[in-house]
Amino acid sequence: MHPALNIMVNAARRASKIINRAALDIEHLQVTIKRQSDFVTEVDKAAEAAIIEVLRDAYPDYGILAEESGEALGRGGGSEYQWIIDPLDGTTNFIHGFPQYAISIALAHRGQPIQATVYDPGRNELFTASKGGGAFLNERRIRVSKCLKLEKALIGTGFPYRVYDHIDAYLAIFKELARKTAGIRRPGAAALDLAYVACGRFDGFWEFGLSPWDMAGGVLLIAEAGGLVGDLAGNDSYLESGNLVAGNPRIFAQLLQVIDSHRTPGLRA
Ligand code: IPD
Ligand code: CA
Ligand code: CA
Repeated sequence: MHPALNIMVNAARRASKIINRAALDIEHLQVTIKRQSDFVTEVDKAAEAAIIEVLRDAYPDYGILAEESGEALGRGGGSEYQWIIDPLDGTTNFIHGFPQYAISIALAHRGQPIQATVYDPGRNELFTASKGGGAFLNERRIRVSKCLKLEKALIGTGFPYRVYDHIDAYLAIFKELARKTAGIRRPGAAALDLAYVACGRFDGFWEFGLSPWDMAGGVLLIAEAGGLVGDLAGNDSYLESGNLVAGNPRIFAQLLQVIDSHRTPGLRA
């Protein structure tokens, strides 16, 4: 395992202890509302602090983009390397005791993810990938699914729940895909949704309005598992636009066609 990935796994395991302990006592969680439908708990913050401590100890000069600390941590701002951290992806699930959440840590070089860890602490499922080195679930190689047709595909998504500017376009896509696919699921933790595409549990995925920390780990997992990721036009601007389509190569192309046909002028690729 690449030394940086090893450190990332240690950091994720440290955070998982905090999360698993807190999951035993969710009635006593202190929940704060950041914006409409955007919650943060002391668990998100403690998990993030633990992750940053481990990463900084090993690589003090790397930049950091972490959800709960904003971009304020750019110490080592001159570095070409940056950690992109979501300490608890799926906070709404976590608060409700709904067991679908994860820790996502990516290392980017000049903005491109090169190492990735997505860890589901409840199921002890550790997804890892290194650029050019493949993707793994608990150290076993994973590949995207072999599903060829949308009508047989299980598709993951995230519903708009905070910003509703593009809800009509989203619902038009949903309506068409509801008819054309075998099923659509909204588990509620984007990093894990992407990991599920990488290991073939989902054949494809789409969501609008994601943040870099939701995607950075998962997109490398998918690429290294033989899948494709793109923005709504199939290009590479998803980390900037937050709008993401992913899947095995066949399903990716079919999803993109449906999504593109419902794009409205205000909806960025
Ligand atoms: C959210 C989850 C959710 C997705 C949202 C994300 P958070 O992350 O990944 O599935 O639909 O867009 O913001 O806030 O729980 O870390
Ligand atoms: Ca997230
Ligand atoms: Ca989060």
